[in-house]
Amino acid sequence: MIPPEFIRSEEEQPGLTTFQGPVPEIPVVDIGHGDEEKTVEDVVEAAKEWGIFQVVNHGIPAEAVRQLQRAGGEFFGLSQEEKDKYAMKEGKFEGYGTKLQKEVAGKKAWVDFLFHNVWPPASINYGVWPDNPPDYRKVNEEYAQYLLIVVENLLKWLSKGLGLEEEGLKVALGGEEMEYLLKINYYPPCPRPDLALGVVAHTDLSAITILVPNEVPGLQVFKDEHWFDAKYIPNALIIHIGDQIEILSNGKYKSVLHRTTVNKEKTRMSWPVFVSPPPEKMIGPLPQLLSDENPAKFKSKKFKEYQYCKINKLPQ
Ligand code: SIN
Ligand code: FE2
Repeated sequence: MIPPEFIRSEEEQPGLTTFQGPVPEIPVVDIGHGDEEKTVEDVVEAAKEWGIFQVVNHGIPAEAVRQLQRAGGEFFGLSQEEKDKYAMKEGKFEGYGTKLQKEVAGKKAWVDFLFHNVWPPASINYGVWPDNPPDYRKVNEEYAQYLLIVVENLLKWLSKGLGLEEEGLKVALGGEEMEYLLKINYYPPCPRPDLALGVVAHTDLSAITILVPNEVPGLQVFKDEHWFDAKYIPNALIIHIGDQIEILSNGKYKSVLHRTTVNKEKTRMSWPVFVSPPPEKMIGPLPQLLSDENPAKFKSKKFKEYQYCKINKLPQ
């Protein structure tokens, strides 16, 4: 058995709520074939219909991803005492911990995590980056450089799909001041994966999230009133449309509801990078997308205000 605080309500238990039967596949988009029109079409369709997709042929060398995974795995393999040196302090968004969201009814999620910014340089606090393994910094910086290119391209294609200039979404999100926050999720084996959850159902508050999974499946997506398992595709990146792009697009692109399950024997890990506007940036539906027929569906507010309301479960 597992401690009662990890047992989810019946509405949440994966054993009771995971769809059994043929599962529609989350779109897989090849973003490296060079036919830009086709890429825009595929990315836009996936962002509208699902709010989540996997990208292949993305240009990040497999070795850079492997190193990121190895270094993160080695950090979580350190002693508890060693990891606690990086413990997240009250009111901070960075550091090591075992619980972030205020959880309903005192329930706990089956996950440990580490958060730190990886870009831009002015937002980085190396004090919360692990000193161990010794090449942690090097491999994370290298991955971030490759990631910037993928994000630039995705924002460009998503902008085109809205009829904006290529730079439209990037500028609306703060341009070079966009912040890239890495989270490493570490989900140890769980004796009752049918009762517990890794991360509870949520949409990402970021603009867009780029996630590297390990080979242990666990991500589930809510679509057409069902929870579906996401398939593990070697070398693919998982892209989530987050709340800020849903808002800027006035709902044309969807911020996807998702959660994670855990595994009985294996450790699951994932490396999402949340790309968000800087805290003071005002985010609201882009005026050029609005009309009498398409009035604003969301309020405009500073990103930091949105974040505060979401984390504290206050109405937006
Ligand atoms: C998350 O949504 O924070 C985690 C997703 C994952 O581990 O796949
Ligand atoms: Fe998420």
